[in-house]
Amino acid sequence: MIDKVEIAGIGSSVPEKVVTNFDLEKVVDTSDVWIKKRTGISSRHVVTSERSIDLAAAAALKAIDHAGIDGSDIGLIIGCTITSEQITPGMSSFVAKQVGVDCAMMDISAGCTGFVTGLITASSMMDTLNIDYAVVIAGEALTKIANWSDRSTCVLFGDGAGAVVLKKGDEQKMHYPVLTGTRDYDNVLICKKEDRKTPFGGVDNPPLEYIKMDGREVFTYAVGAVEDVLRRMQKSCGDKPYTKVIAHQANEKILDYVVRSIGMDKDQFFINISEYGNTSSATIPIAMCDALEQGWLQKGDRVALVGFGSGLSCGGIVIDWTL
Ligand code: ACO
Repeated sequence: MIDKVEIAGIGSSVPEKVVTNFDLEKVVDTSDVWIKKRTGISSRHVVTSERSIDLAAAAALKAIDHAGIDGSDIGLIIGCTITSEQITPGMSSFVAKQVGVDCAMMDISAGCTGFVTGLITASSMMDTLNIDYAVVIAGEALTKIANWSDRSTCVLFGDGAGAVVLKKGDEQKMHYPVLTGTRDYDNVLICKKEDRKTPFGGVDNPPLEYIKMDGREVFTYAVGAVEDVLRRMQKSCGDKPYTKVIAHQANEKILDYVVRSIGMDKDQFFINISEYGNTSSATIPIAMCDALEQGWLQKGDRVALVGFGSGLSCGGIVIDWTL
C-alpha cells in the first residue's frame, strides 16, 4: 500500500552540451525535418565528460535544497537507471556519497518506467522502514549506449537526470499506483552487456553492445499500454479525476495518439521532448521540474504520471501536487 507521503522537493540536471538535429545531420544520414516530423525532437543535451551518476547527484542535491531538508534527514535513496557507470555499488550509493548521508540505498532497472517504479517502491516502503524522507532519482546517459551509426535510434536519445524528495505526511497525496508489463518475446527493445572473456569461457574481443529497437513494435505497445494505465487510474480517481498528465517523453507522436485515444486536450499533457529527446527514466522528473518552473504545474493540481519502456513495462501513479 502507498504510504501517506508527498513530494517535498524536486530538481533536475542536464549536461551543458546541446546537440541539435542540424548537428546530427553531420553524424548520420538524417534531417531536421525527418526527426521533427516523426518524433517532435529538435535538440538534446548530451554528456561529454559527465557521467549519469554525476547528473543524478546534481539533481538530487537540487531536490534536497528545494525541500529545505538536511542530508541527514534522508532514510532511503533509490536510483533509477539503465546507464549507471557503476555496476556495483549502484547510482544510489554514489548519490549518497555526494550528498553525505548514510542510509538505505538501492537501484532499480526498469527502463523508461524506472522513475514511476522508483516512486511507487519508495512510497510503499517509508512506513514499513519508519523513514521520514526518501529521495528518488532517475539519471541516464543514453547517448553512451546509443548506436551512432544507426540513424533510426541514435537521433532519439538525450542525457539528463531528475530527482524528487518524498516526505511522510498526514494525508494521502499519491494514489492508485499501477505497474504492468508484457513479455518482450521478440526483443523489440534491448541492450545487452558484453560477454567478457574469462579463463573458462566467453569470447575474445566481444563486440560493443548498443540499444536495439524495433520502433514500430515499441510504438504499438506504448500507445496501448499508456492508454490502459491512464484509463485504470482515471477509473480509480472516480469523481476527482486527474486533469493533467506527465508521460514518458519518447516520441511526441506517441503522446498525440494517446491524447486522442484517451479523449483529453493536448495542453493537458506536458511535453518538453523538443529540447531533451528521450532521456529514458529521467524524462518524467525533468518534465515535472520544467512544468513547475513554467507554472504549468500548480499546487492543488491532480496530475497523472505514466512511464513505459523496455521489459516491456508500463506504470503510473496519480499525485496531488503540493509544491
Ligand atoms: N532520418 C531519416 N530517415 C530515417 C531515420 C532518420 N533518423 N530513421 C529511419 N529513417 C527512415 C527509414 O530508413 C525508413 O526508410 P524507408 O522507408 O526508405 O525504408 C523510413 O525512415 C521509415 O522508418 P520507420 O522506422 O518505419 O519510421 P517510423 O515512422 O516508425 O519512426 C521511430 C521511427 C521514430 C523510431 C518510431 O517508430 C518510434 O518513435 N517508435 C517508438 C520508439 C520509442 O518509443 N522508444 C521508447 C523506448 S526507448 C527506451 O526505452 C530507451
